[in-house]
Amino acid sequence: MSQVRKYRIYRYQTGRQPFLQTYKIADDAFTGNMLLDALEAIKSQQDPSLSFRRSCGAGVCGSDGMNINGRNGLACMTPLAQMPRVVTIYPMPGMPVIRDLIVDLKQFFNQYKKVKPWLQPSKKLISESDREFIQSKSDRDKLDGLYECILCACCTTACPSYWWNPQKFIGPAGLLAACRFILDTRDGKKEERLRSFEDLYKLYRCRGIMNCVEVCPKGLNPSHAISVIRREMIGLHHQGSMSDQSTNSGG
Ligand code: SF4
Ligand code: SF4
Ligand code: FES
Repeated sequence: MSQVRKYRIYRYQTGRQPFLQTYKIADDAFTGNMLLDALEAIKSQQDPSLSFRRSCGAGVCGSDGMNINGRNGLACMTPLAQMPRVVTIYPMPGMPVIRDLIVDLKQFFNQYKKVKPWLQPSKKLISESDREFIQSKSDRDKLDGLYECILCACCTTACPSYWWNPQKFIGPAGLLAACRFILDTRDGKKEERLRSFEDLYKLYRCRGIMNCVEVCPKGLNPSHAISVIRREMIGLHHQGSMSDQSTNSGG
């Protein structure tokens, strides 16, 4: 027999008090078996004013992040079969709400841009290259688990360190991207990238709470990426103190 589920959904419009609105819909009242399909059905069959972001419907665009029964996730990747009879949905936490389940991601992307998430090849590499920047297979393998991020913000909006310092702490998604370019052997700005984290907040505000790992719908591990950056910074400082020692000893 088809399951009738209750959806308690956060509603908010500028100038009005937020509230939870309850909808009921049976799983067989629409096609598809994901939470996003249920939300689409509620919107088309019951309440066209219900607002949420979506695009690909396949876990690729990262636009339908929301807080589902207390845990951030993508509606399009959340099977209804794994949901209880009552599903409570809030916008992703720690972000200003624009309307209903739609949050303002400006600050999230500001932090992301701060790590310069693009390749900055060295002059040597540019002068030696014809058209392509060739990379060995083993060097390319180092980027696995780092490049697949879809910028859904599920991790960053689940991170208490980010909630408290959204302007200062880069957050797990931005730091995962930073790690991706720090480890890229074609990049010529590794040291500059690492030195940009020499303050109390951008990187070191991570307290290893691991919420980011728990919620990532792509199975990525921003917490590990953060520890890799920390390790690289120790290596950089070690190199610096070695060269200081050799300078002091006249070497
Ligand atoms: S491990 Fe760090 S980045 Fe991830 S949720 Fe915890 S504090 Fe935030
Ligand atoms: S690391 Fe995972 S949770 Fe964070 S933005 Fe990327 S895909 Fe989303
Ligand atoms: S709609 Fe694109 S990731 Fe869910």
